[in-house]
Amino acid sequence: MSTNSLFIPVILGTVRKGRTSEDVARFVFEETKKRAGVETELIDIRDIKLAVDDAGESIKDSKFSATVERADGLVLVVPEYNHGYPGMLKHVLDSNLKEYVHKAVGICGVSAGGFGGTRVIEQLLPVLRELGLVTIFWDGNFSHAQNLFDAEGKLLDESHIKKIDKFLGELIWMSKVLRYGRENVAV
Ligand SMILES: Cc1cc2nc3c(=O)[nH]c(=O)nc-3n(C[C@H](O)[C@H](O)[C@H](O)COP(=O)(O)O)c2cc1C
Repeated sequence: MSTNSLFIPVILGTVRKGRTSEDVARFVFEETKKRAGVETELIDIRDIKLAVDDAGESIKDSKFSATVERADGLVLVVPEYNHGYPGMLKHVLDSNLKEYVHKAVGICGVSAGGFGGTRVIEQLLPVLRELGLVTIFWDGNFSHAQNLFDAEGKLLDESHIKKIDKFLGELIWMSKVLRYGRENVAV
């Protein structure tokens, strides 16, 4: 992959055993991999072993921080838990700061109910803004997530392919624009 490729990792934002968000994250990851000029990686927050008796930048995981530092954009796959985001995702996000600044982010909400995680997305937006990320105006919405995949994790509702294509198109555009800005426009 050329060094000009954009790097847009997909973050699976829950540690819950039996999580359906994992199927969603794998689907979005595979769709991201198909995009020309984009390099990606699937990051499972379960694999980021942060201390839980402290918080913030002092508990940074160097590998995760280096990945975010290298990223031009992020996809967050986030389940809705009592209309909010998983605490473990916030704990992981809080461990970096300057690594996020002037980078693009898109959210895929996952819910058992019919609102496609729109409530968790709305809750997360101000957090991402404070981290210095630039949110896009297109989301992924995975309602009734428990019915969307078969036992092997294969997507059953193909309408999501077109929707994620549009989401990724916008995220890639914003990632490109912000990379240009970081490299060429003085702050
Ligand atoms: C603690 C908890 C709270 C939840 N709250 C909601 C909710 O507010 N709205 C909703 O639609 N689904 C809710 N769900 C269901 C999840 O959204 C559902 O399991 C979905 O598949 C995404 O989460 P998962 O990746 O953990 O499976 C909740 C699940 C858990 C474990």
